[in-house]
Amino acid sequence: MALPMMAVEGLHKNFTLHRRERLNLSVLTDVSLSVYAGECLALSGPSGTGKSTLLRCLYSNYIAQQGRILLRHSGEWVDMAQAKPRKILAVRRYTLGYISQFLRVAPRVSTLDLVAEPLRAQGVAPNVARSRAERMLQRLRLPEPLWSLPPDTFSGGEQQRVNIARGLIAGFPVLLVDEPTASLDADNRAAVLDCVSEAKRAGTAILGIFHDDDARQALCDRTYDMVAAQPASCAG
Ligand SMILES: Nc1ncnc2c1ncn2[C@@H]1O[C@H](COP(=O)(O)OP(=O)(O)OP(=O)(O)O)[C@@H](O)[C@H]1O
Ligand SMILES: [Mg+2]
Repeated sequence: MALPMMAVEGLHKNFTLHRRERLNLSVLTDVSLSVYAGECLALSGPSGTGKSTLLRCLYSNYIAQQGRILLRHSGEWVDMAQAKPRKILAVRRYTLGYISQFLRVAPRVSTLDLVAEPLRAQGVAPNVARSRAERMLQRLRLPEPLWSLPPDTFSGGEQQRVNIARGLIAGFPVLLVDEPTASLDADNRAAVLDCVSEAKRAGTAILGIFHDDDARQALCDRTYDMVAAQPASCAG
């Protein structure tokens, strides 16, 4: 029996819109789910049902008002909803990866260094980290002349693949992915799916949002329906 790597229990998230007379928007209502090592759970539901918000809460980019976010980190359970910033950083460095929809990067850092950075943060030697970054960029079909450039002028699909390379390179045990293949052509989509499937086979627990059917069929074992699983209110 595989181990649960992440367990979300009774998560609630509201946004208070201060510019709209403090309107209270309830986006996540009692979300509970688990993700096991080596499986991929897909979040499904129409636009605006809180899929990306849930991933941001799990990565501690957003604070949830209620609930637990348990992650298996270095042999212990960490509740990301209560953890101190130092612990959150340690979890992000060693355990939890997040491939967001858009690449956010420091200016002037080369693509190669950007992709190698998660490995460097784990103490991997610079030359080893760089050669693994090269291999990853090759597999994701990013043209070699771009490797020494910062990615801020890259096309949307190129930036997306840099983002994916960064998210996959360190082999995190748990991975959050937000539409990794959106806006990619068929060949690049296949390259991305191949790399994500490999991570899954290696035991990574994946929680993801996948809008295209190819990706869902290639990767996903189970689905969490954001509308059916939450009591009322979530679709606003
Ligand atoms: N920072 C924020 N402040 C206020 N409201 C927000 C914020 N982030 C998200 N929301 C609201 O939360 C709801 C859910 O947004 P979210 O981006 O999670 O949806 P989604 O399911 O990922 O949609 P899509 O499929 O279109 O990406 C939306 O109504 C959105 O307006
Ligand atoms: Mg979204």
